[in-house]
Amino acid sequence: MNKQTKPVFIRNASQLVSLAGGSEAPLVGKRMGELGIIENGSVWLEDGIIRAVGRDDELAEVYRDRLQEAEIIHASGRLVTPGLVDPHTHLVHAGTRENEFHMRLQGATYMEIMNNGGGIHATTSATRKADHETLFAQSKKRLDQFLLHGVTTVEAKSGYGLTLEDEIKQLEVAKQLNEQHAVDIVSTFMGAHAVPKEFKENPDRFVELVIEEMIPEVARRGLAEFNDVFCERGVFTPEQSKRILEAGVKHGLLPKIHADEIEPYEGAELAADIGAVSADHLLRASDNGIRMMAEKGVIAVLLPGTAFFLMAESANGRKMIDAGVPVAISTDCNPGSSPTVSLPLIMNLSCLKMGMTPAEALAGATINAAHAIKRGHEIGSIEPGKKADIAIFDVPNYLVLQYRYGVNHVHTVIKAGVKVVDGGRLA
Ligand code: NIG
Ligand code: FE
Repeated sequence: MNKQTKPVFIRNASQLVSLAGGSEAPLVGKRMGELGIIENGSVWLEDGIIRAVGRDDELAEVYRDRLQEAEIIHASGRLVTPGLVDPHTHLVHAGTRENEFHMRLQGATYMEIMNNGGGIHATTSATRKADHETLFAQSKKRLDQFLLHGVTTVEAKSGYGLTLEDEIKQLEVAKQLNEQHAVDIVSTFMGAHAVPKEFKENPDRFVELVIEEMIPEVARRGLAEFNDVFCERGVFTPEQSKRILEAGVKHGLLPKIHADEIEPYEGAELAADIGAVSADHLLRASDNGIRMMAEKGVIAVLLPGTAFFLMAESANGRKMIDAGVPVAISTDCNPGSSPTVSLPLIMNLSCLKMGMTPAEALAGATINAAHAIKRGHEIGSIEPGKKADIAIFDVPNYLVLQYRYGVNHVHTVIKAGVKVVDGGRLA
């Protein structure tokens, strides 16, 4: 990316939501609703870093002598937020599964389709066949769309290779995208996404392969920071999941878990037991599991788009927040259960389907999402010293952003101090 030396001065937003004060730890309970709103807000960005934030008259005074040298972005009538953070995606994959969407509309279930060789297996076949360039091109398109929806950092999982070589191929694509694309990517190894067809008769051998070959090699190459597993009846048992996650920890990969998505399976309990950074999905999490997560500070990454698309009941975000669990939200962008890149839509669904307030939804898509990928000190709020990642929406306040749903309101996106979306288009 070309480095911009000129300071950027975003001026006079009708509402600037700073989310300040949550860099050390995720926001929990009532604090999730405290957005740090500044009316007539402005922010000064320089060398890719946020230098100052405050009321426009105050900042104009502080930078009085330097106004001439800055690029001014007028934000009156608009909403300024931290660049959105998506902490759970399956960004890198080949192909689409609209045929399964059609089958599900006629009554087939997600797990039936998977058990009959479709689902994750279908995308695994397509991803194995695709070469690096094809995978890169298809994933880049999605990443562009994320950016156009105000997202400046995404987590991206592997898990459609399911051989060492194909998992590495996915992670290498994520690495190249991170280097070449404005959006930052944080990588997660998810070799335990499904038991591949060739191990159907002997799933434990596949678990050994993940533990003994894949995790050490991925860690050795520095291709991932996190290790995730699909803990679900018919996929990986809690016992297998535990071994896989512990193996990751041994090699420096922090644990995450797809937990209690389709059936209650004590995934939340396991996440708390092993001290996972996050437990994701949690549609069917038990009360005990929720209590344990709150105690251990495990972040719940909730994915209401997946519940919506699978026509299932959403996770109970309200209950989790009230129980003191730090909550983040995400698209789960993937070709089967949630083929969307719209984090703003997920905010709306968080309100309508999970009992969250619009303020909590925004905290879930910014500062708490940043913590879910261990970036709380760097991104997710507008505070001096943080990365200059900013989204500007063409709505007067954050309530309108979530109320006028299904429309992309992004006007401008600044990534590390550089304007990368302008007037709703890639700059
Ligand atoms: O998070 N549940 C497992 N993994 C994904 C879906 C992957 C797919 O269907 O391709 C999820 O929902
Ligand atoms: Fe997922």
